[in-house]
Amino acid sequence: MSTIDNINLSSSPNPVVVPINKSAQLKATNRTRPGVEILPRKPKFGPFDKINKYWAMGNPAVSFGQSFFSLVIPEGEKFFIRTVNAVRDQITDPELLEDVKAFAKQEGVHAKYHDDFNAHLVKYGFDADAITRDANQLFTFSEKIFTKKAALAITAFAEHITAMGAAMEFRFPEFTEDSDPKAVEFWHWHAAEEMEHKSVAFDVFKEVGGSYFTRVGAIVGFGAISSVFFPRLVLRELKGFKNHQSSEVPIPLSRIARKYPGINMRMAKFGSWYFMQYFKPNFHPWNIDNSHYIDEWKSENPNVNYA
Ligand SMILES: [Fe+2]
Ligand SMILES: [Fe+2]
Repeated sequence: MSTIDNINLSSSPNPVVVPINKSAQLKATNRTRPGVEILPRKPKFGPFDKINKYWAMGNPAVSFGQSFFSLVIPEGEKFFIRTVNAVRDQITDPELLEDVKAFAKQEGVHAKYHDDFNAHLVKYGFDADAITRDANQLFTFSEKIFTKKAALAITAFAEHITAMGAAMEFRFPEFTEDSDPKAVEFWHWHAAEEMEHKSVAFDVFKEVGGSYFTRVGAIVGFGAISSVFFPRLVLRELKGFKNHQSSEVPIPLSRIARKYPGINMRMAKFGSWYFMQYFKPNFHPWNIDNSHYIDEWKSENPNVNYA
């Protein structure tokens, strides 16, 4: 198994696989994972109303990108749940069915929490209703034109991308150092759960006989549709964000680059390596073992409530 630390980018610790906690609230499914449970949680973050406009690294570009992503997430996660549930009657493996339940529960909670987080971004010029409407249109259109298997392949790929982003959050703490601590706490919880369930959609896709051709072809098809939907949406939201007057002093990208020398290259190198793994014919999400990040997050957050 290649591990996330095999590529020589920094001196991150070796992966540590912690034995399954027998007292866990959900049955441990452990289908393909190295001792990792999928545990839906309901942490208490308190109100997000003090989240600043430049909450991500103090930088406007990064904050806009992350905020926009956050605003798209709820519709995306509802789509992920629907595409997995659409083939649920073809799943015969009881452990995988347990995984599907836990996956849907985690994504459902994520969507609700992001709605809370996003509600406070509206004051910075975002048109959340328009983003939700457009994202919903993109995903429902995709469900109409793709087969169930191809729509599921889009979810499997999206899960790979979110798992990559989650791994980067933990691998590059510089990325969150100048960010709003409440936002970091929130995003780290989401990231840890994304890593827990990163193989579920992929496993379901394989279970229903998804081929390599469909897995890759669906990415190309969805990419083409998104390229029609998204640019207009991004430009409109960017206009609202820029027009919002803020007294916050932004941290320019040049200062971030000086503070963390080489961070851009290291992140780009790691991100492209992670991204490309998906295109290997024998890829499986747990070929990249980043379970140690989940263990670290769990040991730092022992008192979260379970959903
Ligand atoms: Fe999620
Ligand atoms: Fe996910």
